[in-house]
Amino acid sequence: MQDLLNAILAKAAGELPGVRSRPDFEAAKARYVGPNGELTQVMKKMGAVPKEERPAVGKMVNEAKISLQAHLDAALATIEASEIASQLGPRIDPTLPSPDLGPGTMHPLTHVREEMCRILRKVGFSVADGPEVETEYYCFDALNTPADHPARDAQDTFYFPPSTQFGNIARKNPEEKYLLRTHTSSVQIRTMLKGSPPIRIVSPGRVYRRDTSDATHSANFHQLECLSVDRNVTVRDLKALLDHVFSSLLGPDTKIRFRPHYFGYTEPSFEVDLSAKHLPKVNKEWIEIGGCGMVDPTVFSGVGYDPNVWTGYAFGMGLERLAMLLYGIDDIRYFYQNDVRFLKQFSLST
Ligand code: DAH
Repeated sequence: MQDLLNAILAKAAGELPGVRSRPDFEAAKARYVGPNGELTQVMKKMGAVPKEERPAVGKMVNEAKISLQAHLDAALATIEASEIASQLGPRIDPTLPSPDLGPGTMHPLTHVREEMCRILRKVGFSVADGPEVETEYYCFDALNTPADHPARDAQDTFYFPPSTQFGNIARKNPEEKYLLRTHTSSVQIRTMLKGSPPIRIVSPGRVYRRDTSDATHSANFHQLECLSVDRNVTVRDLKALLDHVFSSLLGPDTKIRFRPHYFGYTEPSFEVDLSAKHLPKVNKEWIEIGGCGMVDPTVFSGVGYDPNVWTGYAFGMGLERLAMLLYGIDDIRYFYQNDVRFLKQFSLST
């Protein structure tokens, strides 16, 4: 009997590793342990074995059964592994860059920001930075914005709860609230307090307002602020600079005009309109683009600059609006969705 069992096992050891598919495996399994399988036949003969030999023969058969099962298990594992491998496809190295990834392009907002800074740097401005978390002093008080001005309203401004502390942002008085800056004009104050005139800075950055998001509003957008402080600065200098900046950015056919307006930190103050009919989707003669004016003497006094000596201009504008004009984008939300189908349309290299 041992010889018979050995023969069966030897056959299984030879045959099973070559089985490649589940149907073949099931057929092979049936040939050994199915109702008419070779091992089953042997087991059926157990009844004829004399009683005293039965324990020894039983042990033999059992061992044969175990080793046959091991062959079957190994064959099935091989089949499963090859099934998984075929589902996974060819071997890949996941640490390699994806073959689908082309070189990235610059985000249109980054492009407009960098272009504006480049144009302004060329005429003597340097880039200044300020925190997005501000205090009422830098965002409003020092900019001559009275306590009851609507811009300070909690409906327009994100205030932090009074218990919130920002150890790295100093407050003028312990009563004032922290807030998310509503404009980059706060950087004017920080720059003037830190340095001394003459000053020429450009400060791009993120600002926050309690606006409901739609095609032209976002609670979080970007502005660019400019401040120039020197002796004998006039509105002519301001107008000349803005003429230069916009025709450099948008082309020589661009015109600007000033409309009288009110801002607490400038006197006189103007809103700036652009005429740029050559741009895509511009169907109005004049489009409002920002605010500007001559730095108010109150602001100079507040930062310790003698208003009888120092004069200056300032302007601020939204970067999204500029980018929308430049590229004919009609929904501000596209800027923030990181949809490659949108981003790919701007072949702006870094
Ligand atoms: N801060 C104004 C705004 O957010 C824009 C502005 C107006 C900035 C006049 C200035 C300025 O520097 O002089 O709408």
